[in-house]
Amino acid sequence: MVLLETKSADLTSLLQDPERKRRYVRALFDRVAPAYDRFTRWFSYGMDGAWKRELAAALASRIPSGATVIDLACGTGDLGRALRSVRADVRILGTDLSAGMLHHARRRDSSAVLAVADMTSLPLPDGAADAVLAGYAFRNAPDPRVAVRESARILKAGGWLASLDFYLPEASIWRTLFLAYLKAAGSIYGWCWHRNPACYAYIASSLELFVTAAQFASLLREHGFEYCEVRRKLEGGIAIHLARRAV
Ligand SMILES: C[S@@+](CC[C@H](N)C(=O)[O-])C[C@H]1O[C@@H](n2cnc3c(N)ncnc32)[C@H](O)[C@@H]1O
Repeated sequence: MVLLETKSADLTSLLQDPERKRRYVRALFDRVAPAYDRFTRWFSYGMDGAWKRELAAALASRIPSGATVIDLACGTGDLGRALRSVRADVRILGTDLSAGMLHHARRRDSSAVLAVADMTSLPLPDGAADAVLAGYAFRNAPDPRVAVRESARILKAGGWLASLDFYLPEASIWRTLFLAYLKAAGSIYGWCWHRNPACYAYIASSLELFVTAAQFASLLREHGFEYCEVRRKLEGGIAIHLARRAV
């Protein structure tokens, strides 16, 4: 738990070191796992559920019958359940670094297929998946570039990546306000629920080191995704990417 007491300036340097970031993020999500679903609903004023349903519906309309879908960094399994509610025929494997988050995924759905795995080195052969579903995943990766490369590796040619995440807004004034809001609100929630402001202020700290939605689309193209639709929410503070692996 000492790791989670890291001060904000130190946290920025810690998050730039992939190995230290991996350890920090795993400890963080193990700690917040019991409150995660409630936090996500409250912190997004209920919008998270609508974004996830939109992402699941968009992916559902693009994948074949019986598709194998990897729910990357699945957490408590929200996205996989959203997809299954519109496409009961698909096979979903939920993977996550945090055993604590997977424990809660299992409690929510005892039939879910789950595995502890790092999104930068998945225990899957090349081309194993028809689709990768990723809710707030890549920003948390020890190195997001490596995680995108790994997703491209496990996808079949023509397979889909459907991602929802926070991004740096392009407009500088909105970017400043958005980050300040996330930091302040995250600190208050962290203090109230865990007596630790750093728990949720981490969202702003990780976002400061992340990219804009347009830059993430470019990263996808660099890694073999030939088509990428970007749907911006909250003026680019949140975005959905729907990208197809080159055929
Ligand atoms: C914000 S939660 C998102 C959970 C879920 N996908 C959702 O949309 O609600 C981020 C998840 O990423 C997981 N995670 C962080 N780093 C990871 C890594 N290197 N490999 C796999 N999962 C990771 C965390 O354990 C956590 O469950």
